[in-house]
Amino acid sequence: MELVNRSRFLIYIVSAIAALAGLLFGFDTGIISGALLFIQKDFILSTEMKELIVSSVLLGAMMGSLFSGHLTDRFGRRRLMLLISILFIMGTAIASFAHEVYAILIGRLFIGFAIGIGSYTAPLYIAEVAPFELRGALVSLNQLAITIGILCSYLINYAFTTLEGSWRWMFGIGILPAIFLCVGMIFLPESPRWLVKQNEIEKATAVLKKLRNSNDISKEIEDIKKSFLMKQGSFKDIFSPWIRPVLFLGAILGFIQQVTGINTIIYYAPTIFQMAGFQDASSSILATVGIGVVNVLATIFAVFFLDSLGRRPLLLTGLVGMFISLLGLSLVFHFNDQWVMMRWIAMGCTFSFIISFAFSLGAILWLVVSEIFPLEVRGIAMGVAVFSCWFWNFVVSSTFLTLLNALGASTTFLCYAVMCILSFVFCYYKAPETSGVTLEQIEENIRKRLPLRAIGQPVFSKTLATEESS
Ligand code: BGC
Repeated sequence: MELVNRSRFLIYIVSAIAALAGLLFGFDTGIISGALLFIQKDFILSTEMKELIVSSVLLGAMMGSLFSGHLTDRFGRRRLMLLISILFIMGTAIASFAHEVYAILIGRLFIGFAIGIGSYTAPLYIAEVAPFELRGALVSLNQLAITIGILCSYLINYAFTTLEGSWRWMFGIGILPAIFLCVGMIFLPESPRWLVKQNEIEKATAVLKKLRNSNDISKEIEDIKKSFLMKQGSFKDIFSPWIRPVLFLGAILGFIQQVTGINTIIYYAPTIFQMAGFQDASSSILATVGIGVVNVLATIFAVFFLDSLGRRPLLLTGLVGMFISLLGLSLVFHFNDQWVMMRWIAMGCTFSFIISFAFSLGAILWLVVSEIFPLEVRGIAMGVAVFSCWFWNFVVSSTFLTLLNALGASTTFLCYAVMCILSFVFCYYKAPETSGVTLEQIEENIRKRLPLRAIGQPVFSKTLATEESS
């Protein structure tokens, strides 16, 4: 019992340190909404420049996710995590001490690049060190860290508004988690799965013995060895017929996570609250902090229940909740002028949207894309899925205000609601249940060309396959 607890403790520490990359992801994407208000007091900014400052992190993240698949397969998960912590430190320093707008842009691009690499290296690394029965909970620690990062950024935005040169402090605080990540990664082990892939069996055995606090790890090593062919996967291999379906699944899930509108709320909540009728800035900022809090709480729920309730029930329920909330928002904006109570309903819908997202798509995307790809191409394929997520994040957040102007709030939210219905249909037929099964079993199922929905089956279920092919 004691031994089990000690190994559990170690695995939690390892995952928590890696999840600091998630905290930086949340913090650095959330901080800009507040910082921008003060940057524009120090520099003369055109609208295009403002948009560029906001989207530079997303552009950097897109580039980072594109390259990182290759880098992480080549250099290993641990070294990449170390590299991104240094990029975070450099980017934060450049942005905080900037005397030219261009320096802010360059700093934020560096940070974005680090976020892009970290947004998949951290879940990937955690999934590869975790024992399978805890994988859901541990990988979703990363999403929990993202939401804590967003909440911290909202609180810091709120707290630092009266400080001289406040935007420098807002950016600058991000250096602390980056330093913790850097120091922590120096002591963390390399992923045993990556080590096996490099044929470093002895090192992998030593790491696993330590992580599992057991000498009996030969079965796990054998399973890992079996799970990839002797050849190293290349970019071309991710398009081979047996991998294509899961590549498609990952890219579509990245698309779904963004086009259902999460970042219209995360990045623009104060604007939405003001549109709904909460005119004074302080109540809309306070409500935004509330959004940050419920986001964290609902993610904690996901961490506890993803493994026991399963991915699919949470995913499907969450999409229904998101649909109802968005429909509610659309109706509120349609009838807004007619009833004062409407603004409170709008706030309720926004909160229920965030809760529904947080316990479903928020945690599940990063978890599932760290689970479904075969080891020989895991890095590259996951990079494609994560790139899809950042690309659609960029598209949605840079078109939201334009859509509001062109279509009005009611129709805009209705569009995201329709995306929820389409996403529900896709997930119902295609999303696999991956809880309670090893990564090696998932890979074996993919090699057997099981239908997407069945790739998480511990033992192939004929019923599911028949249902899907009919
Ligand atoms: C998404 C982000 C989003 C965050 C909100 C993440 O899973 O990828 O785009 O801002 O959740 O909690």
